[in-house]
Amino acid sequence: MISKFNIAVILLFHSCLAYDFIRDSLKVINQDSDPCNDFYRHACPLGHYESLARTKFASLEQEFLIQRSPRIWQNLAIQKAVENVKIGEVPESSLEYIVQYFKNRCEQKKNTTSILKKIEELVLKSKTKECRTEYCLTILADDTNCLRSASFLKKRLQKNVQLSKRKINISISAFEDFIMLRNIEIGGISFLLGSNVLEGVDQVKTFIQDMIQILSDWIEQTPWLKNYDMKNYVQRLTSEIKHVDDIAIALENDLDELMREEINFLKCLHEVGDDGELFCLLYLREFMPEYYDLKYHSNMNAFNDHPEVGFGYPLYHVAKNSEMSSKLGFVGWIVGHEIAHTLIEDPNSSELMPVFSTEAIQCIQDQYNATCEEFREESCIVADHQIDENGADVLGAQLAYKLLENYYGEKAKDEYIKLNKLSITHQQMFFYAAAYTYCSGQKNAVYLGDPHNAGNVRINALAQLPAFQEAFQCKPDSRMMKTVKKQCNIYGKDAPNQR
Ligand SMILES: *[C@@H]1O[C@H](CO)[C@@H](O)[C@H](O)[C@H]1NC(C)=O
Ligand SMILES: *[C@@H]1O[C@H](CO)[C@@H](O)[C@H](O)[C@H]1NC(C)=O
Ligand SMILES: *[C@@H]1O[C@H](CO)[C@@H](O)[C@H](O)[C@H]1NC(C)=O
Ligand SMILES: *[C@@H]1O[C@H](CO)[C@@H](O)[C@H](O)[C@H]1NC(C)=O
Repeated sequence: MISKFNIAVILLFHSCLAYDFIRDSLKVINQDSDPCNDFYRHACPLGHYESLARTKFASLEQEFLIQRSPRIWQNLAIQKAVENVKIGEVPESSLEYIVQYFKNRCEQKKNTTSILKKIEELVLKSKTKECRTEYCLTILADDTNCLRSASFLKKRLQKNVQLSKRKINISISAFEDFIMLRNIEIGGISFLLGSNVLEGVDQVKTFIQDMIQILSDWIEQTPWLKNYDMKNYVQRLTSEIKHVDDIAIALENDLDELMREEINFLKCLHEVGDDGELFCLLYLREFMPEYYDLKYHSNMNAFNDHPEVGFGYPLYHVAKNSEMSSKLGFVGWIVGHEIAHTLIEDPNSSELMPVFSTEAIQCIQDQYNATCEEFREESCIVADHQIDENGADVLGAQLAYKLLENYYGEKAKDEYIKLNKLSITHQQMFFYAAAYTYCSGQKNAVYLGDPHNAGNVRINALAQLPAFQEAFQCKPDSRMMKTVKKQCNIYGKDAPNQR
């Protein structure tokens, strides 16, 4: 009896104490300002703070890390070896270094057989293949004239195009990236598992399923898809989208990858000698993949690598610890945005869809043009390379808002959430929560080549949703409403006819 009682108390405490990022962020609202004037600066006034989400979740992660002692995978010999390389003091070319290393060992009258065997393996790109003719290098161990054998080795290696081009600094940064990426992913996963937000993971999954269902209905009714005879194609594409949730497998693979390199490195060192750190790194490099996936993050992040969509820890945290209207504004919008990436295309550089409605795109770009012109802070632009991101914001918000309507119905407008002195509707909460995805007290800017628009433009363009005007009772001549000329329906019965 007693133990049952204890469990109930603990659960209660847990749910009371769970940190609600959105409620906390609402404290920054400038209540003296009009949301219809500049909604972004009403929700996120200028001030001495950087991104709220980034700052808050970085400190939550920090708290989480402090409770853990350093792990073995954070203290690998291979990492120390990478840090020890002094790029300025070694030759630029890997080939040069390898030959030099061989020559030194030869001059020290050490047995060079195992070094030559390793070089043979990296030339053959195989640890098992038998060498033939000029690929057989171990025989050079029997030439006691080190100058001659080193220059002969060099000539042979120069025939290997790939090896001839390798630069040491690039190989070393490939190792740094590999170790960093695995650390980020393992860190993201352990944060996710260790702070128990799996309910949030399920919530995100449910959002995805519900949005795919809504999209499927909209696709069925979309005139331009009908005109292009593309309905089935787009239905199929939509049905392929799936949430990454192979958490345990990804963690296992990451640890395997790190440990495999560590073991290979220690084995190599054992075979060639302790001064062989850099030689062994260059040797291992030839057997590593060119590219490593990164699917789990501890910070504000999300991706669509069709068919997979994935999200950083903060989204799962909010998806567990906030009310539904906050979840939908913050998480739902980003989930919708990532799903939308599959279904929005710049027709001049299409990836998944062979055609797209230029009229739909024109509408989106016009909206961002108007928002950018009206609310420019440091900078903002409207360019073709932003079509995919701008469109994903618009469609993503429509999907998330549709879920809000389905969930609350009329209550979205007349049920109030009380917070200290504030009392806000679910409909308003949706927009506030959305604003806290990119809330920063610093002036917003766009960066050269970044397909995303400035944060304030992304948020204020949410005035596109008719619900915005309704939520804040904005007058048609308010700054926010002035930027909305036309409803951009990309999919659904009101989408353009035109191809
Ligand atoms: C050098 O080492 C190899 C094994 O790595 C061995 O087979 C060979 O006999 C050694 N050569 C000499 C001269 O000791
Ligand atoms: C590597 O060094 C070359 C010159 O040796 C330089 O041009 C290049 O930018 C460097 N690359 C990296 C990744 O540091
Ligand atoms: C695509 O390219 C054509 C020709 O360069 C240009 O006229 C058109 O505006 C572009 N459309 C979009 C949506 O970028
Ligand atoms: C918006 O459109 C107008 C008219 O085409 C153009 O002059 C202006 O440069 C555009 N603004 C941006 C930020 O692209």
